[in-house]
Amino acid sequence: MLSPISAKSTDAMSSSDNNPERTLADLGVTRPDQVLSLFAEVRERFDRQVSRPLDHPSWEILRQSWLGRKSGVLTLITEHWLKPAAPDLKRSVGQELNKLKTHLETTLEERRVDVESLADHVASIRDRVDLSLPGVNRPVGSRHLIRQVFQEIEDIFFSIGFSVVEGPEIETPYYNFEALNIPEFHPVRDDMDTFYLELPPSPDKKTAPTQLLLRTHTSPMQIRTMEKQKPPVRVIVPGKVYRRDNPDATHSFAFHQIEGLAVDTDITFCDFTGTIEYFVKQFFGPSVKTRFRPSYFPFTEPSVEFDVSCPFCGGTGASNGSTCSKCKGAAWIELFGAGMVDPAVYGFVNYDAKKVSGFAFGIGIDRLAMLKYGIDDIQVFFQNDVRFLKQFP
Ligand code: PHE
Repeated sequence: MLSPISAKSTDAMSSSDNNPERTLADLGVTRPDQVLSLFAEVRERFDRQVSRPLDHPSWEILRQSWLGRKSGVLTLITEHWLKPAAPDLKRSVGQELNKLKTHLETTLEERRVDVESLADHVASIRDRVDLSLPGVNRPVGSRHLIRQVFQEIEDIFFSIGFSVVEGPEIETPYYNFEALNIPEFHPVRDDMDTFYLELPPSPDKKTAPTQLLLRTHTSPMQIRTMEKQKPPVRVIVPGKVYRRDNPDATHSFAFHQIEGLAVDTDITFCDFTGTIEYFVKQFFGPSVKTRFRPSYFPFTEPSVEFDVSCPFCGGTGASNGSTCSKCKGAAWIELFGAGMVDPAVYGFVNYDAKKVSGFAFGIGIDRLAMLKYGIDDIQVFFQNDVRFLKQFP
């Protein structure tokens, strides 16, 4: 970078022995040869100054100090040396002054061209695209495996007429429990250790604030959906849910579910098992078998637990001569809970339990993804380690 010459340092004439503010007589110049050497000194001073590194502003300062009309060196010489010169010196002063003027003008013009092309050069270096440089590698991200599994499952249910709805992760106990037929003190609440939110007191401090919690399942969206629309209902609800579980290879305080709900005037248990079977075969492949075992959920009746024949050992419990590591030899893998919607639930959403029927299911996505993609620790879904994420582009 050029350091501009300050106005002070370009003070064109600082030495007092050829100061153009004094007359030739004052300077003791009486002979033409003295005039020549005086001009030679001035010219030398100029040459020194003009050969320093210049940028455009410092070039302009230099030009002003030499050619400036009011107080440039050339004007001062005209005023103090030429005009009052003794008649016998006037000719040589005039000639020298003209030579000096030509020299100043041509040299300054040359320097101006230099200075400008240098500025262009600097700018072009700054802006230059060097095509020989290696490109900048901007890695393209990909969707998280959980997101991909959500999408996969959503696509399967889209194909049979379900649509997607989403709901709040912060819920009231009413939607998370009561309206799902789980009254306070019902023992089933023990299965869902819950995060309650600490809330500020209400402004008037008289009424207790509405309790809020992190939803423990996606089932509250069954209620919210039925409150909003009349049958027929066919929705799935992907989302994040929370429980106060201690983290280990199969538990996390946050995980993912897809809720399913179908309610209409003529939905039977057959529709229910048919739908689930279709889904499982689409997801794991056509050769898997399904079975269901009785279970219990307060909001479904009857309730079932769906199992799938182990897709990894072909439902035999063994692979390569040893116990199948996926189903631990059981030949079946527990998949998810489901059931026919309990008529009591319809009472909370003003559906006529005598006219409508339906089924609901809640699929744990993390578990499904772990099974399908051979992942043995749920924690990797939450650690955001690119070495893991990269394996599922
Ligand atoms: N919500 C239940 C759970 O999280 C699963 C479920 C959903 C069961 C819908 C039946 C019907 O365990």
